[in-house]
Amino acid sequence: MSKPSRIAIDGPAASGKSTIGGLLAERLNYVYFDTGVMYRAVTWVALQRGIDLADEEAVTVLAQRIHIEVTQPTLLDGRQYTVYADEEDVTWQIRRPEVDRGVSPVSAYPGVRAALTVQQRRIGQAGRIVMVGRDIGTVVMPDADLKIYLDASVEERARRRYREIVARGEPADYERILRDMRRRDKIDSERDTAPLRPAEDAIIIDTTAMAVNEVLAEVERWVYKCDP
Ligand code: DC
Repeated sequence: MSKPSRIAIDGPAASGKSTIGGLLAERLNYVYFDTGVMYRAVTWVALQRGIDLADEEAVTVLAQRIHIEVTQPTLLDGRQYTVYADEEDVTWQIRRPEVDRGVSPVSAYPGVRAALTVQQRRIGQAGRIVMVGRDIGTVVMPDADLKIYLDASVEERARRRYREIVARGEPADYERILRDMRRRDKIDSERDTAPLRPAEDAIIIDTTAMAVNEVLAEVERWVYKCDP
């Protein structure tokens, strides 16, 4: 029985996708690719260049022109990878709260999605990859060998995000994080193009009451069972 080569992991913000995706890729010796960084990089660069995020055309043109590259970590500062936008290292900038707030509307623009989806598909074609996002199993790699959809209650996801920010030594406000997360969930799942939803053949795992190692074990159970 061969292992699945192209693995899609989707789910809402802070459902554990990046943690599980990163660990799984490491264990399988696969490429780990977090597609959210592309939407975040477009958002960050737009903010930097003074582009109004409500200006769909300008943001779309930016998404078509910008060169985003994701490489192995170039620094040992806790990063899972290094993200370059037009040659500039934006790995930490794309995690800022203003990007969290701006990225959902940006990722709802069909032209932005079209531009980034093309690149994601190309990266996925090589195989031996764990690709993480919102629409990987439904749009980017609908023929993936294994599709996982991670979910958790919004309160638990807000708690996880709160702890992450505190661990980085930054100020965090739980109620605000919860509010922002509800807002992002709503935009991500109600948008017309590639809304957040599990693919019909996805395995859905509710991680609310699960520890990271338990989720990883459950996903690995499916990896070794799955025969593409
Ligand atoms: O996973 P994340 O929080 O880094 O994603 C940032 C935003 O990008 C999120 O609001 C939804 C969007 N996104 C998307 O629409 N499609 C993807 N494949 C990945 C992320």
